[in-house]
Amino acid sequence: MADFGYDITDHRAVDPVFGTLADFDQLLGRAHDHRIRVVIDFVPNHTSDQHPWFAESRSGRDSPRRDWYLWADPGQDGGPPNNWLSTFPATGSAWTLDIRTGQYYLHSYTRSQPDLNWRNPLVRRTMSDVLRFWLDRGVDGVRVDAAHRLIKDAALADNPPPVAGARTALVPGALQLRHIDQPQVHEVLRALRATVDEYGDRLLLGEVGVADPQRWAAYYGNGDELMLVLNFAFWSQPWSAAGFRRVVQTIERVLPPGAWPVYALGNHDLPRLASRYDAGRYPARTRLAAMLPLTLRGTALLYYGDEIGMTAVPIPPELAADPDGRDPSRTPMQWDSSPAAGFTTGQPWLPVPASARAVNVVAERDDPGSLLNVYRQLIHLRRRLPALRTGSYQPVTPEDPAVYAYLRRAGSQQVLIAVNFDDQPRELGYRLPAGSLIVLSTRSAASQPAPPRELNPLRLAPGEGVIIQLT
Ligand code: GLC
Repeated sequence: MADFGYDITDHRAVDPVFGTLADFDQLLGRAHDHRIRVVIDFVPNHTSDQHPWFAESRSGRDSPRRDWYLWADPGQDGGPPNNWLSTFPATGSAWTLDIRTGQYYLHSYTRSQPDLNWRNPLVRRTMSDVLRFWLDRGVDGVRVDAAHRLIKDAALADNPPPVAGARTALVPGALQLRHIDQPQVHEVLRALRATVDEYGDRLLLGEVGVADPQRWAAYYGNGDELMLVLNFAFWSQPWSAAGFRRVVQTIERVLPPGAWPVYALGNHDLPRLASRYDAGRYPARTRLAAMLPLTLRGTALLYYGDEIGMTAVPIPPELAADPDGRDPSRTPMQWDSSPAAGFTTGQPWLPVPASARAVNVVAERDDPGSLLNVYRQLIHLRRRLPALRTGSYQPVTPEDPAVYAYLRRAGSQQVLIAVNFDDQPRELGYRLPAGSLIVLSTRSAASQPAPPRELNPLRLAPGEGVIIQLT
């Protein structure tokens, strides 16, 4: 639990904090009964330093498992072998000296998460058996953690100094890291894909923090690597129509033929969506943001609690648990207004904020105008309209700096999505054909039929998003 499960000591067990393998099987079975599919994290880049493999590896330079991890002699000055840094700023160098054997081991994250050596065929075979173990149990797919990090520069060359204020299309302020995203990583991912493909209808999704769009897109391979490649672009966008439009354009442009995008506005590593766009002042923004992943061409990933507007929870220092300060977006799911928000009858591991009395599933379920009901309507429409689910994507009115609008088309069905990022009313600069029907507005409550509106021109209220069925 040094990194809350991303530090594994036994790849074929469940941490007792969460239960047992039997509990896992039961969970999976119950989910499947409800036709819910379950995708789990697969963490190939590193293990815990408490893993028996690492204990053996560090036991001596001639240990048969020495080469399962990445060991290197000290640099010329006796310090770390090179300037590589941990992903977590608080950790500093990515190298830690093992005094007993006089060598450094590499850790891309905390010191207690040594990186595995994926150049070693035994590591590859063993980890692919781990993957099989879970696929055999019936999981519906995996999210490959830190997929772009599996192969490091064999020469251990220094990374170039970070460019101050660098911004790239897909990762904010991305460092030009030389040591990761090495060509051989694609061979590793092709092998993982082949394993997953043996099982039929299973998902291989991967976390890829690579800034350069072309290099990022390469993780789809020729349809033989990751099925969905996560990017970090959306979460770092300032509140601007142009910014989001540009990200989508970049992704659409670089995707190889047949590849399918995936969009996420939040996850367990990021600041809470509802706190990023100053939701206190502009509640409309969280409603608008919901529209993007659920109406763009691609798979939508939603982070628990974002659908009810959970905000960053201030964590008193004595309760801080995460090595990278991510606790505020990892607090218990807010189901109801009880003291632990219905998540537990015990003491939760992180505090429940006072706001949970209003921001919770029970309260929002019964409020037709709630954020939760915006999400439900969006999901419902996506089910109902093939254009939203699988249709093509075409941006319209690209000259409007405040309104992001796009068409989705499937067969004869055409749907237009328009999102007004401005806190002023805006006219939609697109002629709507007669008979067009507004099927959703983030402004109106789910239960009420929307009042009839003038369509040409369509006036969007401040911070309003609409979905219009054209044909
Ligand atoms: C990924 C995970 C993050 C974790 C890290 C190390 O980035 O999303 O939560 O800390 O990998 O496994």
